[in-house]
Amino acid sequence: MPPFLPQETIRRKRDGAALDKAEIDAFVDGLAKGGIGDDQVAAFAMAVFFRGMNAREAADLTAAMTRSGATIDWRALDLPGPALDKHSTGGVGDNVSLILAPLVAACGGYVPMIAGRGLGHTGGTVDKLESVPGYRTDPDLQTFARVVREAGCAIVGQSAELAPADRRLYAIRDVTATVESIPLITASILSKKLAAGLDALVMDVKTGNGAFMPTLEQSRALAQSLVSTGEAAGLPTRALITDMDEPLAPCAGNAIEILHAIDFLTGRRSDARVRDVTFALASEMLLMGRRAQSLDEAISKLDAALASGAAAERFARMVAALGGPRDILEARAAALPAAAVVRDVRAPREGYVSRIDVRALGLVVIELGGGRRKAGDAIDPAVGLSDLAGKGKIGKDAVVARVHARDQSSAQIAAAQVLRAYDIADEPPAPRAPVVERSEI
Ligand code: URA
Repeated sequence: MPPFLPQETIRRKRDGAALDKAEIDAFVDGLAKGGIGDDQVAAFAMAVFFRGMNAREAADLTAAMTRSGATIDWRALDLPGPALDKHSTGGVGDNVSLILAPLVAACGGYVPMIAGRGLGHTGGTVDKLESVPGYRTDPDLQTFARVVREAGCAIVGQSAELAPADRRLYAIRDVTATVESIPLITASILSKKLAAGLDALVMDVKTGNGAFMPTLEQSRALAQSLVSTGEAAGLPTRALITDMDEPLAPCAGNAIEILHAIDFLTGRRSDARVRDVTFALASEMLLMGRRAQSLDEAISKLDAALASGAAAERFARMVAALGGPRDILEARAAALPAAAVVRDVRAPREGYVSRIDVRALGLVVIELGGGRRKAGDAIDPAVGLSDLAGKGKIGKDAVVARVHARDQSSAQIAAAQVLRAYDIADEPPAPRAPVVERSEI
């Protein structure tokens, strides 16, 4: 074999060649160990973005990224139940993981969730959890395993130990406009999930203007790639396609979405769209993990876990075990950072919210300081948007959104951008269910 030169692999992909396994392995090795520069990683990601990868290359990339670090064997760690997980392809106001992990734990599943940071215009669960004072998203593997056993769930970031190649590639994709690629998304998600030693995975594949794959056709292709690559690697995988033509929760931001999740778990608030998507994904997990025999049984278990407070209690246990406040459920508002300026954005006229530019709302959060402009940027956990209006009827001067900002001038800019993201029309929009379809592959 000729010596491996990263620029030659980049050139071959740039020119549309299919990469062989050996050069994918060598590239990923350099990615994980640092032998390849950030410039070369960015160029590689852009070449894959434009030229794509066939299914074999995507599977090889996934396998190499999985092997780039340690993998967990839950059987050897005596987990008393199935290791189940879900992952989203990314959205705005998508705080499902924070609600779903403790819910599934309260129903007898174990959720060792390795989540991501913000990516492109979307928020990341790890960034959200880091707004909880003291919460450690980077525990060592022993602590991670202990918390999963004791709380039933642990949501952490990619450590240097698990899928380090994705950790680096992900951070570079975030700031180089190379996120929206089916093979890169597939390898990114599945490498983390395969390293986590799961028994089953459910994928939440977002579709709509706030998703990385805006059309249903592209979302189906992504779902197909995730399910077939996951299954081929020995991980039972299902996918639901869910709507991202409006934010899922009525808020976007880090501490803001944590607060919403706590309020949802403790019954202080309920949102039909969040509930529908969370329950649909969680019930697939309970079925795959044999914690329920039927969809009806799964839904009634989830209902009971929410109503009894058992799910909220699992969340609190996870937060405390990972270094956060012991009283997060009660002290939530005082414990979480809050923005200095809160400004209402009001509807200029009566009508129907007919279209929401969800991607633009995600970018507003980044501009407010809630996401990164370049890799490694610090983020402001307190800023973001709350009280976001959904599609449907709206009165003149009704609140379209509440902007949470560091200062008056960024609040003013954000308020104008939010208004531009909302189309108010005379006719109601065509309805679309939050769970668009279950992918049958
Ligand atoms: N989530 C991930 O972990 N990776 C992606 O590429 C997209 C969503």
